[in-house]
Amino acid sequence: MSLSKYLFLAKVLAWDTEITLLNMVTPSKKVGHVIPEGHPGAGGKWPEFIPPKEGDSRCSCPAINAMANHGVLPRDGKNISFKELGAKVHTTYNFAETFCYFVPNFAAKMLGRDYETGTFDLKDLDLHNGIEHDASLTREDVVHEPDQTKPHVPFIKELLDGATGKDSDGNPLLTIEDISKYSTKRRVEARETNPEFTLESTHKIIGSTNASNFAAVFGGCIDDLSTFLIEERFPDGWEPKLYEANGLSILSYYRNTISKVENGIDEDKFRRDREERKNQRHDEEEGGEVLPAGGNTSSGGAVGATGELRRRV
Ligand code: HEM
Repeated sequence: MSLSKYLFLAKVLAWDTEITLLNMVTPSKKVGHVIPEGHPGAGGKWPEFIPPKEGDSRCSCPAINAMANHGVLPRDGKNISFKELGAKVHTTYNFAETFCYFVPNFAAKMLGRDYETGTFDLKDLDLHNGIEHDASLTREDVVHEPDQTKPHVPFIKELLDGATGKDSDGNPLLTIEDISKYSTKRRVEARETNPEFTLESTHKIIGSTNASNFAAVFGGCIDDLSTFLIEERFPDGWEPKLYEANGLSILSYYRNTISKVENGIDEDKFRRDREERKNQRHDEEEGGEVLPAGGNTSSGGAVGATGELRRRV
């Protein structure tokens, strides 16, 4: 690691630690008051939603597209400074200033531009294996769909249909476990169907960070997520569910959500379970006796070392 990169990371870490500690001793923001007065979305009042016109620039990030669709960022999605992006993400989503400094800096470096003075169009963010990567939850892999601005609705529906949580009124909620489960499925299936598949550890963490937003920023609310992910629109009256006085710090986000999402991803288990289900279906079709996974029956069934079911002959 170069000295300048080391110093940059040390600075962000020290600053983020300070914000994390400050948030522990500062009263949280109140519901309905997350977005500061005078900023778009304050009190749940968003500027008009206008979908992108021909020639407007959009990207693979639903959060940034939604900001442009509501005019929080320039509606044409062009000529945006990295500093403006960070400042607007801070007020719109209540991420800490550290996150809003670190991610646009990462984007500037990936594009070979200067963070202090540089600008970009939203489509520039779609540089493959910059931040954009394979096995996303809301986009097909670039090899299948070169236009990464397009939400892939079947993936989004499958993700949201997998919600197992419930809020106090009984409405479905997407949990951290649900997010890990769908991320696992996407990684396994993308690996199998994308001849150019790559997912280095940096992109695994970027993927889990983005996916963690479903739980953190949206509290897992399916209705809000559906509007946000499919239409790239803020639901009427919506505000982020991040109440930290100084915004969500990188350390808190990593500890409470990102690491849990990433640690819950288990591709080997997904493949084993899938094999087991396949064998079970096969056995049922053959009309043989099906034995429960890992269990013996009085008739003496055989369960393979990986837990797969085998039909008694
Ligand atoms: C701070 C500046 C940000 C930049 C530069 C950025 C950039 C990106 C990029 C390039 C992707 C595509 C990654 C992929 O291939 O899956 C992405 C995805 C995503 N981002 Fe952002 N983003 C930012 C902030 C945010 C914020 C604040 C949220 C919070 C709601 C967010 C939520 C998401 C989500 C939900 C995805 C989709 C993940 C998926 O499809 O698996 N992003 N972002």
